[in-house]
Amino acid sequence: MRDAKARAGYTLGMSEGSPLQTALYFAESGEVVTDREQIAADMRARGLRFETWPAPAAFAPDAAAETVLAAYAAPLRHLMETEGYASADVVVLHAAMDNVRAIREKFLSEHTHSEDEVRFFVEGSGEFWFHLENEVFALRCVAGDFISVPAGVPHWFDCGQRPFVKAIRVFSDTAGWTPHYAETATHRSYIGTFGAAPGQRATLMPPGPQGASVVDAIGGASAPSSTGARA
Ligand SMILES: [Fe+2]
Repeated sequence: MRDAKARAGYTLGMSEGSPLQTALYFAESGEVVTDREQIAADMRARGLRFETWPAPAAFAPDAAAETVLAAYAAPLRHLMETEGYASADVVVLHAAMDNVRAIREKFLSEHTHSEDEVRFFVEGSGEFWFHLENEVFALRCVAGDFISVPAGVPHWFDCGQRPFVKAIRVFSDTAGWTPHYAETATHRSYIGTFGAAPGQRATLMPPGPQGASVVDAIGGASAPSSTGARA
């Protein structure tokens, strides 16, 4: 069932000291869904996949990728064997990284891939935004969340102004890593607006001028957007 309290304008864990929680946000209506079964159903209805995996104890900050992958060996093996994925790795993004602004900008631009984008959030959080034919919506993922975005689905990823994400990536073909950027700049209207009421959204982040840096638009340093890393 839908959480009636989590409607337009309810910011879902954005208050000081409050941990973020998994939530699905429909930008045009302002509706926010926090029930996991309903989130999975809403995602499934749109051709997307959301699951909750068991989350073991937290890892040390410098835990090796092999340690992280070993902790999720059972669900990973099942996923890869049943759906034909060939490899998995661990990606870490945090605010102290030298190139964090450039990486965030790459992820923030609307794009597609030629293979599925499959992620499991080990620690931290981030927002996957989707631009389907008639709607824009976003899934905030936290530790324990699994998401699969089929090839060709327009999306972008917002890791926030102080990113912290540790996630497992699962691939069938590494050639599919390359993002194909959209010519439109739909994402500009939605940066930093998760959970906002429709009337608030335009004032939070109006569309920027064509060609301007996304990171400029949120007050950071500019960096060229190009192919390479993906969300
Ligand atoms: Fe992507």
